[in-house]
Amino acid sequence: MVVLVTGANGQLGQAIRSVVGNYPSIDFVFCSSSELNITDSSNCESVFEKYKPQFCINAAAYTAVDKAETESEKAYAINVTGAQNLASVCKAHNTVLLHVSTDFVFDGIANQPYSEGAVPNPTGVYGITKLQGEQAIQNTWEKHFIIRTSWVYSQFANNFMKTMLRLASERDSLSVVSDQIGTPTNAVDLAECLLTIISTQHPIPNTQYRYGIYNFSNEGQCSWYDFAKEIFKVNNISINLQAIPTTSYPTPAKRPAYSVLDKSKIKKVFGITISNWQEQLKK
Ligand SMILES: NC(=O)c1ccc[n+]([C@@H]2O[C@H](COP(=O)([O-])OP(=O)(O)OC[C@H]3O[C@@H](n4cnc5c(N)ncnc54)[C@H](OP(=O)(O)O)[C@@H]3O)[C@@H](O)[C@H]2O)c1
Repeated sequence: MVVLVTGANGQLGQAIRSVVGNYPSIDFVFCSSSELNITDSSNCESVFEKYKPQFCINAAAYTAVDKAETESEKAYAINVTGAQNLASVCKAHNTVLLHVSTDFVFDGIANQPYSEGAVPNPTGVYGITKLQGEQAIQNTWEKHFIIRTSWVYSQFANNFMKTMLRLASERDSLSVVSDQIGTPTNAVDLAECLLTIISTQHPIPNTQYRYGIYNFSNEGQCSWYDFAKEIFKVNNISINLQAIPTTSYPTPAKRPAYSVLDKSKIKKVFGITISNWQEQLKK
């Protein structure tokens, strides 16, 4: 079985690479943006023709949430046209597409975990383009899994945990927002989740009913302040950490105040066990 991974040098792409040893029956093809530019449909076609994958994990995305507000065309090209191109080439090659999406498709007004059926209402360009990417896939190719996740961190690429550790090495005090609530997700857990879906799904016949949107994050919830506090605790870092409201840390893109995801569907359908975010942070 061949699994092609786009955006292979990003955080999720590297996390998937780190667990390939757990899946000896899968032949992985990792394509960085230089080998496979998902905004280029003929590039997608030639890469699929070369490797003939049964599954494609789309780990490529435009992820600069604030920059997207002023680079909307670039965000659209990667998150919408790119997703559309992959759905089309997957359809042409009968390849199952696993696409990663985000909690930022929600406005954050809810006060209980968002299920897959909750009505999205993104508040910024990044969230809008990620939602449009989901819709492009849904309208093009039925054999898809859209995995919405949140607050992804790891030892790979850029993420909140690494930013906190860097800032702690440069400063004595730090202020972090405490009124945005969500759930951190260890990128390696997300990688294992995607590969569990692939492993569980193949070669079970008549599994069409499984396709669709799924939520995945670690368990529990916290604020960015709580997350930072735990990062410093786990790393034995002593720093003056202040909790501040979002109003004291204005950003170009508005973030959801609450974006906890309900994971009951993915746990039930794929038998996935999910660990608490604090436990996974220690890893
Ligand atoms: N990080 C989070 O907190 C978070 C939260 C929720 C959902 N997500 C979703 O999770 C997925 C993975 O995110 P991540 O954290 O791994 O992001 P990331 O570290 O920013 O990686 C994105 C990758 O996409 C590649 N890419 C950009 N444009 C491309 C193109 N036109 N063709 C092919 N590749 C391209 C980038 O390659 P270059 O560096 O070469 O441009 C980069 O390697 C994304 O769908 C994201 O929306 C992330």
